[in-house]
Amino acid sequence: MKYDIKVTRAETTRIGTVDFSNIPFGRVFSDHMFMADYKDGTWQNFQILPFGPISIHPACMAIHYGQSIFEGMKASRKSDGTPCLFRPEKHATRLNVSAYRMCMPEFPEDLFLEAIHTLVSLDREWIPQDEGSALYIRPFMFANGEFFGVRPSNSYKFVIFTGPVGPYYPKPVSLLAEEKYVRAAMGGAGEAKAAGNYGAALLPAKLAQEQGFDQVLWLDAREFKYAQEVGTMNIFFVIDGKVITPATLGTILKGITRESIIQILRDKGYTVEERRISIDEIVEAFQAGKLQEAFGSGTAAVVSHVERIKYKDLIMQLPPMEDRHIGELAKAEINGMRSGRIPDPYGWLIPVQEEVMVS
Ligand code: COI
Repeated sequence: MKYDIKVTRAETTRIGTVDFSNIPFGRVFSDHMFMADYKDGTWQNFQILPFGPISIHPACMAIHYGQSIFEGMKASRKSDGTPCLFRPEKHATRLNVSAYRMCMPEFPEDLFLEAIHTLVSLDREWIPQDEGSALYIRPFMFANGEFFGVRPSNSYKFVIFTGPVGPYYPKPVSLLAEEKYVRAAMGGAGEAKAAGNYGAALLPAKLAQEQGFDQVLWLDAREFKYAQEVGTMNIFFVIDGKVITPATLGTILKGITRESIIQILRDKGYTVEERRISIDEIVEAFQAGKLQEAFGSGTAAVVSHVERIKYKDLIMQLPPMEDRHIGELAKAEINGMRSGRIPDPYGWLIPVQEEVMVS
């Protein structure tokens, strides 16, 4: 271990209060968290401490001007008990892509990885055993400068906490193709995992929910023509045996699950096209009986099937679940690799290093 991470253990564990057979998403937090501070041009004060509130100044710049980014990744347990991380280095890199776009300092990738290994090792008992569940890991960085003029902050906090989770979408989702609001335009911050992207999506999602849909299917900001993503996940369509997912041309989050699914499906012999796909093409495929599947992908969602999509007055009801072979294959492969049920030919599962220094 290269960095000096000071570890202060919680005096007692809360794990006994958790019902691991019924874990809601996002409400259960493990015993410890990692924190680091950026001050005077450098990252310092690396520590793991009992999970708990962080105090912030009312002029905390992230609250006013939105310099706040995050990642979402998962640890799982193989059937032999080994705790593993799924492609952690990809998340370390993507955090810094977001940091660059939001004018925030880079976080050293080796420190990101060391912090996650140390934290997950300490809280490894919190990793659920069930194949559909995992320990969700939430690294985030925010500007904590105390100033209310608009400029990049001089100080930042980087935090990682974790919590066991079950499926994000326990059922197939329904989507409303959005014709009024946009998520991101070319040149905007859509590719960054920036908190504001999610905040700005809440109103359209709420309006869609009021109409009976689970989420919004975003269309491009210029023509309202090309499918983008769902906001909580990337999107795939299966048309006439071919898998198509919108190309990440600057407005869409470069999902790590998305990338993994593309590779898995190509290696299984499927044609996977990363390109622009218009809502008209989706409608035409539906009307010709060729829209076989649609599914979202993401760390939280893994693979979540889409049951119907509304665009203008047309409701596209997708085929029944028993016909969703491609999405199910992608899900089974990812979950199977994570649980060790099937081999990981890619080296995506990284065993958690067990060495924890407690001071
Ligand atoms: C994830 O998939 O990890 C995300 O960050 C999406 C979030 C909406 C839960």
